[in-house]
Amino acid sequence: MEQSEKIFICEHVNLSYLMKDFLSAKTSKRGSELVDQFSAFRVFQEDQKVYGKVVETQIDDLSEGDVVAQVAYSCVNYKDALAATGTGKIMRRFPLIGGIDFSGRIVLSKDERFAVGDAILVTGCGLGENHDGGFSEYVRVPADWVVPLPKELDLRESMAIGTAGFTAALSVVEMERNGLSKTNGRTIVTGATGGVGSLAVQCLAAAGYEVTALTRKDGEHDFLMSIGATEVLSGDVVGEAAGPLEKARWSGAVDPVGGRILSWLTRTMQPGGAVACSGLTAGTDLDLTVLPFILRGIKLLGIDSSMCPMTKRQEVWQRLSTDLKPGHLQSIVTEISILELQNAFETLLAGKARGRFIVKLAELQ
Ligand SMILES: NC(=O)c1ccc[n+]([C@@H]2O[C@H](COP(=O)([O-])OP(=O)(O)OC[C@H]3O[C@@H](n4cnc5c(N)ncnc54)[C@H](OP(=O)(O)O)[C@@H]3O)[C@@H](O)[C@H]2O)c1
Repeated sequence: MEQSEKIFICEHVNLSYLMKDFLSAKTSKRGSELVDQFSAFRVFQEDQKVYGKVVETQIDDLSEGDVVAQVAYSCVNYKDALAATGTGKIMRRFPLIGGIDFSGRIVLSKDERFAVGDAILVTGCGLGENHDGGFSEYVRVPADWVVPLPKELDLRESMAIGTAGFTAALSVVEMERNGLSKTNGRTIVTGATGGVGSLAVQCLAAAGYEVTALTRKDGEHDFLMSIGATEVLSGDVVGEAAGPLEKARWSGAVDPVGGRILSWLTRTMQPGGAVACSGLTAGTDLDLTVLPFILRGIKLLGIDSSMCPMTKRQEVWQRLSTDLKPGHLQSIVTEISILELQNAFETLLAGKARGRFIVKLAELQ
């Protein structure tokens, strides 16, 4: 986009292209800017085929909302890859801009809780599923979805964490509510080199838990030790069930993998242990018996980051910015542009991800 097309608020106010609702909105200049046209990665469905491409669009074309933000960063989650390629039925309408999360600064607000210039983030809530998402230079969202950026995080860090890190931290918070404590023994993270996994390893390590990382990638053991694991197991430890109960090893488990890995976790949890189940990369079917539940009192906790209530959302982001703050964000992040999304989707769907792809949309402080 040409720099000359851009209009700085308060220097050249030209809001004719905005909904008239926004004409009375408060505006100020804190480095963010509005433009007539901007780029976004929009997903289309034609003849049962789902595909995405970068298009030029404008504010009026975005899904409705009380605030407009200029996006600094988005990131690529497994769900984004399922959605944009049609591999999973994630998007409920087409065409739709992809991206289930973003961070940025507000450029227009008609909600008194938020002012122009505020640094914010949004994860889930239907973004990139039924509401135009974060793979866009601008996003318009309901104010009720907006989380003020914690002061201990910057815009880039917040999307290095993103939905994956939020899910990891929500898993820890829920396990702690269900009895997990540092004195109970070792925790385990499955799919440990992926987004949720690599951030769960870091969150647990930051909070002082002993963490075992389970990965199928034999070449990544040193990487996992470098981000906070104190033991790494290869995927082949998960064999066929020898019985409904095996040696009890874990006080807590963050599991974004599901399938036979989750079945194995239920057989190997310590008495009273909690498993936080968030994902399905190894499948949706579960082969379980009730015995770990009734003989060891284990707990299987469902984790839904997308529709998490706002009070819990803010609590989890507060912890992500303090005692659960991942200590090795830089070493897990690959920065890309929206032109490189397709390649990132393929990497995630092939199970080859190491850490996170973050998508830079603008240089904002
Ligand atoms: N419930 C929620 O709110 C929520 C939020 C975010 C994500 N999720 C879900 O969590 C899962 C992970 O998301 P992500 O963004 O972290 O994805 P990701 O970055 O692609 O990581 C997934 C990891 O799972 C492991 N894996 C992949 N295929 C596997 C297979 N066939 N068998 C065993 N392990 C496999 C791999 O780790 P290793 O190679 O190290 O084993 C891979 O890196 C997805 O299912 C996603 O939809 C749910």
